[in-house]
Amino acid sequence: MRAADRERVMEICRDVWDGHDYLPRVFDGWLGDGGAAFQAAELDGVVVGVQRLRPFAQGLVWYEGLRVASAQRRHGFARAMLASAIAEAKDQGFREIRLATGNPDALRLFESMGFHRLVDARWWRGPRVEGGEPARMPDPSEARKVWPAIEKSPGIELYHGVTADFNGARNMDAAELERLASIGMLRVGPGGRAVAALREPWGQNLAVAFVAGRGGALRELLMALRFEADADGLSHVTVTLPRDHPAADDMTASGYDLANDEDSSYIYGLLL
Ligand SMILES: CC(C)(COP(=O)(O)OP(=O)(O)OC[C@H]1O[C@@H](n2cnc3c(N)ncnc32)[C@H](O)[C@@H]1OP(=O)(O)O)[C@@H](O)C(=O)NCCC(=O)NCCS
Repeated sequence: MRAADRERVMEICRDVWDGHDYLPRVFDGWLGDGGAAFQAAELDGVVVGVQRLRPFAQGLVWYEGLRVASAQRRHGFARAMLASAIAEAKDQGFREIRLATGNPDALRLFESMGFHRLVDARWWRGPRVEGGEPARMPDPSEARKVWPAIEKSPGIELYHGVTADFNGARNMDAAELERLASIGMLRVGPGGRAVAALREPWGQNLAVAFVAGRGGALRELLMALRFEADADGLSHVTVTLPRDHPAADDMTASGYDLANDEDSSYIYGLLL
């Protein structure tokens, strides 16, 4: 991708999500990011497709920004671009390519290329609430120690070993809890019997990409996140929880509502 392609890419994006595509907002940042591969597909010298491959953790690369110009769809461009991205990631020694999508057409493409579904994500929303103690931030060594209890939490298998972070779904394990704690992105409930892993939010909210635990400890943590949103001047907490996760009852009991009953959004992975 070159700076000179900006206008053409903006034109392609006008037909995506009723003009609400996020790609125009991130175009310049992506162009300037030498750590990722921001690519254009051309037909007779005109850009017809866009995609990006971004390494985001050891052995893992994130696939994002796939767009094909509306006049050129159903000619196999997306399939050819994705095949080239997979080959490139494999050549570079990555272990797995992961992505997030909600588009049913794209789902068919990814599944036909061998991607498997890791998370079927539901978005829950809990408004800020005044007056209580914000959630506790553990230090890294404590975070590692809570993992043996956390990995037995009911419903944890529905995350398929990853966090539901739509900017890059990392593997969830003791080392990840420790890493999150070291950057201030982990919260624990009483006795370390519940955890919440934060992610970068997209708006004025506190965003949670992974929760585990059960019963009273989890409910206390979910309430404490709402207190934290209030203390930070944020309007609400967003929690990404897999469909049919048993913590749904705890979410409801803690004042959270399901925000995307209609939508579907998924995280997929392909082992290389
Ligand atoms: C999704 C998108 C990238 C597909 O691009 P494309 O070049 O038309 O896709 P291809 O022609 O390579 O088709 C690949 C497969 O995708 C699926 N597909 C694509 N468009 C489809 C449609 N309109 N209806 C049903 N399936 C569709 C099919 O499985 C297709 O395989 P087939 O042609 O063998 O049946 C394009 O429609 C687009 O840019 N959409 C808007 C942006 C977007 O949603 N991007 C994906 C975000 S993850």
